[in-house]
Parts: sequence; structure tokens; C-alpha cells
Amino acid sequence: MENARILELAQEQYDFLVETRRDIHRHPEPSTQEFRTRELVIRELRRIGITEIRTYFNTGVAAVIRGGRPGRTIGIRADMDALLMDEATGLPFASETPGVAHACGHDGHTAILLGTARVLWQLREELQGNVKLIFQPAEENGPQGGGAQYMIREGVLRDDPAVDFMTGLHTNNRYPVGRLISRSGPTHAGSDPIYLDLYGTGGHASTPHLVKDPIVAAAYIITALQTVVSRSINPFDNAVVGVSMIQSGTRHNIVPEHVHIRGTLRTFKEEVRQLAGERITEIVSDVAHAMGVRAELDIRWNYGPLVNDGAQYQRVKGWLTDLVGPDRYVEQEFPNSGGEDFSYFAQAVPSVFFWLGTQADNGVTVGAHSPAFTFNEKAMPLGVAAFTRIVFGYLNGM
Ligand code: NI
Repeated sequence: MENARILELAQEQYDFLVETRRDIHRHPEPSTQEFRTRELVIRELRRIGITEIRTYFNTGVAAVIRGGRPGRTIGIRADMDALLMDEATGLPFASETPGVAHACGHDGHTAILLGTARVLWQLREELQGNVKLIFQPAEENGPQGGGAQYMIREGVLRDDPAVDFMTGLHTNNRYPVGRLISRSGPTHAGSDPIYLDLYGTGGHASTPHLVKDPIVAAAYIITALQTVVSRSINPFDNAVVGVSMIQSGTRHNIVPEHVHIRGTLRTFKEEVRQLAGERITEIVSDVAHAMGVRAELDIRWNYGPLVNDGAQYQRVKGWLTDLVGPDRYVEQEFPNSGGEDFSYFAQAVPSVFFWLGTQADNGVTVGAHSPAFTFNEKAMPLGVAAFTRIVFGYLNGM
């Protein structure tokens, strides 16, 4: 498959991409409620001629395109959910649902994967293997962690044809249209909220011997938590262990019963995440015990670090550089400190995630999750071309 042909077929999808993206944008649905979006996806897949379509985790959809010759299976994922916020873009196709908005570009991701399905269907006889198109709900906010893990638990990767390799993309308004961006190793942080509550015995501040003071215990615990990064984690690894919220007490002479603490754990490697979790648990439990208070700790294992497979990354970089030229492929120096639940796919099979430059033509950057967020629709055909190029690279070895 020649790059020029891939780019041309992708560009032919432009009107479809814009129309589909705007339809989804106008009717955003929050995490786990993507019912209309699911129906739109299934309708478009059927219209293409695809018959192998299954649902997972209620609103998730997976569809299979089998190639003309047998081979491996590549999975491509798009997230479909919107955010619980009001839109302030003033666009003619702005959200018609108060309090819900596509402010993270997932409308574009869904349209791009449908556009990719249309192109790959035309080329299916040439494919040496299969493509599984995975439309995922609840990236932003699953019951605990995002929707990816629930689709995986229900078998989306192991059901025939089992997925050997995964890819996916996210819009990125910091880069102009035409750029593809990624890196080897971690691309997004693991993001795990820490919930900690300390219970002591309250009383008069003038009789400290008769109380079990949870404020003193909290002070020692918060101080000791600083040693997780400084004394337990290898200096060549990175992590954040932070307490961002503490609430307690009512008056200068009353020792309270309860201290309410919230914080965050951010990591870029699964081993570091596990180690930090163990150290936080030990410190909280042992310091609370020493201070005579009861601790309830709940680290909400939410999104693990998203790590691109090193060997597969080098191959994908080669294919994408071949597609857009070395000047338009950007290798990022640092990962993003936000979370992305594609990490569950990347933990299950070798995976490569990348960004698509979607900056406005005037160079103004509005970040994701802002009420004024939108992205440059002209970027969408390159998303289709990039997925198609990766499919031919991975399945046909070209
Ligand atoms: Ni997003």
C-alpha cells in the first residue's frame, strides 16, 4: 500500500468525518451512558457492510474486519464519552445537552475510527490479518477506573480473533495539524486518588492525656509520606505522592475525633506504582498505630501508567515517519502527567498510543477539559491515514 494512496483514501473521508464528529458533538453522553453514540457507531458499521459486531460493557462496541489472507490481529481503540460540564464554544454544532460536553475530543476519536473502518473495508482483500475496531465507553469516569478494563474483562481482546497488538490516538491542541506525536515507554501517568480518614478520641484541648489526637497523627503521617519518593523510589524513577486536602476541627480548645485527608499518587511505571502503594499503606498503618488512632486508607487504583511497548514503538515510528516525513513526526521528551485508560489495553497486549496535532489554524491553544475546547477538524483525515498506515505496517509488514 502506497502512502499517497492511504492519504488520498483518508482525505476522501473528510466530509463524513466532519458530519459524524458534529453529530456526536451535538449529542454528547457522559461515561457509561453512551447509548445514542453506540447506536450511531453500529449503524455506520452496518452501513459499511461489517457484520461481525458485538457489544461489551453495555455501551462499548467491537467490530471485526477480516483480511483477504490470514494473519495477526490489530486492535484500534477510540473512546466515545463526554464530560459533565457546560460547553462555551459558541459553535453551531455545540452540545444540545446542558451539563454535558465533548471537551476532550472523543467525538473526533469516534469519527476517526469510523472513517478508518470505511477505508480499511475498501482495502480488506489486501490485508494479511484482521482488524478489531474497539469503541470504548467511559474513558473519563468509569465505576472505578475507566471503561477499558471492563471491556477487557468481558473478553474484547481474547474473543475471536484475539488481539495481538493495540493502537489508539488522542487529539492534541499543542501541535499543529499534520503532526503525529509519540514516545517510547510511558506516555501518560498512572493516576490513583488516595482517600485517608483518621479516627481518634476527641476531648478538651487542656487534657491531652485523655484524648487520642488525630491531628497530631495526621501531621506525622503526612510528613512520613514525603519519604515514599525521597527514600523508597529509585532516584532515576519518578513519582508524585501528594496530600492536597485536609479537613478537621471546629474550635481552638476542642480536640476533634476525625481528620479527613485526600491526595494523589502519580507514577510512570507499574513497579513504582505498586511500591509506592505498599509504602503508603505501611506508613499510614504503623504511624496511626503508634499514635493510637484508627486509620481507614483507600488507594483507589484508578488508571495505571500508559506505557508504549519499546520494540513496537520503534516500528510504529518508522511507519508514521514514512507516512508524514521526518519533519512532521515529533518524538516527545517527557510523558504527559494526565491519565488515560488506554493503559489497560497496553498492560494486556503490546501497544503504541500516539497524539494527533489538532491546533487551531491561528495557533491558539485551548486545552482539553476547558469549556471553550474544540479541535481542528482538518486534522481528522491524518488520524485515519495514521491508523491505516499502522495496520498495513503491522499486518502486511510494509
Ligand atoms: Ni480524552
